[in-house]
Amino acid sequence: MERVRLGDKHFSLYMTAEQIDRAIGELADRINRDYAGTESLLLVGVLNGAYMFAADIARKINIPCRIAFIKVSSYDGLASRGEIAMKLPLCCDVEGCDVILLDEIVETGLTMSWLFGYIESMKPRSVAAATLLYKRCAYKGDREIKYAAVTMAEPLFVVGYGLDYNEEGRTLKDIYILDENGDTNA
Ligand code: IMP
Ligand code: MG
Repeated sequence: MERVRLGDKHFSLYMTAEQIDRAIGELADRINRDYAGTESLLLVGVLNGAYMFAADIARKINIPCRIAFIKVSSYDGLASRGEIAMKLPLCCDVEGCDVILLDEIVETGLTMSWLFGYIESMKPRSVAAATLLYKRCAYKGDREIKYAAVTMAEPLFVVGYGLDYNEEGRTLKDIYILDENGDTNA
């Protein structure tokens, strides 16, 4: 599918499922190298958006690890609300673990900064961030996003592969970008 319509917006193909798979494979290779020999690796997926990314990267990480999920939200429509709401706390033991936070996209970094603080309060051995898409020019955080599969040249709005526009589009297997004049009546 080259174009999709969600609500009042049009979106065009940005990354195919094959391109996503390849990018995640390269990211997993880096993690496999960096964490080789680690005995307490814990992957933490950020719901809802990261459900596909977490499932796919976890199957490419060949180090024994646990996976858990946390649910937070900051977005409303096309923009961040600027504050984090915790919807589902993390229900697992974090102390002494090497944690990798998995989010499907990092924009301002508000979500990741909040998550670093939350996880660090649980005394892990280390915390790192991994994301499929990184809107680096919109990033205002002070934490390193060590594992980014794709850095977007422009911080444009995307949907698909877990990413939603008002809860639509999450189940698409490819990723689509908002058309410059994305209104359906344009
Ligand atoms: P941040 O806190 O500004 O870095 O935004 C992170 C969260 O906002 C992501 O985990 C997504 O849930 C959401 N988000 C950011 N950019 C987009 C986008 O382009 N499409 C859909 N959701 C997005
Ligand atoms: Mg998210």
